[in-house]
Amino acid sequence: MIALGELLAALLPSRALVFLQGDLGAGKTTLVKGIAKGLHAAMPEEVSSPTFTLIHEYGDPARVYHIDLYRLDSPRQLEALGLDEIFEREAVVVVEWPEKFARWLPRAHLTVKISASAGARAITVESARESLTPH
Ligand SMILES: Nc1ncnc2c1ncn2[C@@H]1O[C@H](COP(=O)(O)OP(=O)(O)OP(=O)(O)O)[C@@H](O)[C@H]1O
Ligand SMILES: [Mg+2]
Repeated sequence: MIALGELLAALLPSRALVFLQGDLGAGKTTLVKGIAKGLHAAMPEEVSSPTFTLIHEYGDPARVYHIDLYRLDSPRQLEALGLDEIFEREAVVVVEWPEKFARWLPRAHLTVKISASAGARAITVESARESLTPH
């Protein structure tokens, strides 16, 4: 996942929005470790899940924003995060659990889907407008 994240980092424009979809423990945060490494924003061990803090940023100035929507319950909470301002920045913004708030997030994005089963992971990357299904 880290190697894939590095590869993605090399392909992404400096301003990009990436949605990560996959079950708990699928490897989403691990992919962000690779993206941050690839963009020289942070080392993998410095990247941790923003499960409770909701947003982590890496690089100075910030080049990677890592957002986890898992613990949010309402669009109001989402609004309070002030993501619109982050989406405008010259940075790679990666969002875990975007499917919870598909209707409130920008339509232009890249979706990485990770499905993990015993010992193997299947990963698809698509530039999608209609890829999100309601949670
Ligand atoms: N390709 C892989 N092979 C084996 N283990 C992996 C792989 N990718 C991630 N892991 C491990 O699986 C665990 C969960 O990974 P990670 O935290 O990246 O998942 P996540 O999708 O972000 O989960 P969550 O939805 O809880 O945030 C970690 O211990 C990580 O090291
Ligand atoms: Mg995670």
